[in-house]
Amino acid sequence: MTSILDARGRLDAAGSVVVLTGAGISADSGVPTFRGPDGLWKDYRPEELATPAAFARDPRLVWEWYGWRRSKIAPCEPNPAHLALARWAGRREGVRIVTQNVDGLHTRAAKAVGAAGPTGADDAAGRAGTPLELHGCLFRVRCTGCRFRGEHREEIDAGSREALPRCPECGALLRPDVVWFGEALPEAVVSEAFALAGEADVCLVVGTSAVVHPAAGIPAATAAAGGEIVEVNPEVTPLTSRAAVSLRARAAEAVPRLVSRQA
Ligand code: OAD
Repeated sequence: MTSILDARGRLDAAGSVVVLTGAGISADSGVPTFRGPDGLWKDYRPEELATPAAFARDPRLVWEWYGWRRSKIAPCEPNPAHLALARWAGRREGVRIVTQNVDGLHTRAAKAVGAAGPTGADDAAGRAGTPLELHGCLFRVRCTGCRFRGEHREEIDAGSREALPRCPECGALLRPDVVWFGEALPEAVVSEAFALAGEADVCLVVGTSAVVHPAAGIPAATAAAGGEIVEVNPEVTPLTSRAAVSLRARAAEAVPRLVSRQA
């Protein structure tokens, strides 16, 4: 039996599956990496800009960088891996996607295939194909003064501090709704992800080096509760030796073969 058939058999037999994705799933969409040569901006390192201290000191500079990152990612489209996972989660009960990515491509895929639910409401039907975003999303904002959160895709005018996006409810500065260095991950999202992982028969891990915690603990939570790990990654990772099946393959090529009806 080839590894792909072996992996597919395990996914088909599983009652519930948690899918954990990382930057590798978006590599086939051309999303630039965080730290690679395409990710550098004006000689700043991400660790210097993606922090609460940097935003407090110079919100205009931080927004200028996020505007640039958004402009690089906005033209990127969900690839066959995002689309196949969205369709799968939309049609099969017990499948949920958890992502470390902030590019919003899983959510766009869910909308594209009609798996986001009619309203995107926070119930099983409304959120079936939409991911739990552990690190937030570049195309969402939250208020620095009140509890407002919302989608935000408009171009950022970072020409002056006065032009920066403001909260429609209280007028305070808005900030990107992403997790910065030194910040905790959103508690409710992390708890839900770990609860899903603990109950899952299989954790399908796609395109993550599986070294950054707490996300890296999600496959371990499935394994600790007696479930299996199936991995898709062109490289060996720290998870490979713990996986029941590890496919050395690109996400856009392997994932549709694992989860689509016709493979
Ligand atoms: P990494 O950049 O650490 O790892 C990307 C993984 O994708 C590597 O294991 C690659 O081998 C694999 N890969 C590359 N091309 C692929 C392809 N076409 N198909 C499948 N896999 C491929 O990214 P993450 O593991 O996502 O956090 O990094 C985790 C977190 O570290 C990020 O979310 C970010 C960073 O600090 C925050 O921004 C909070």
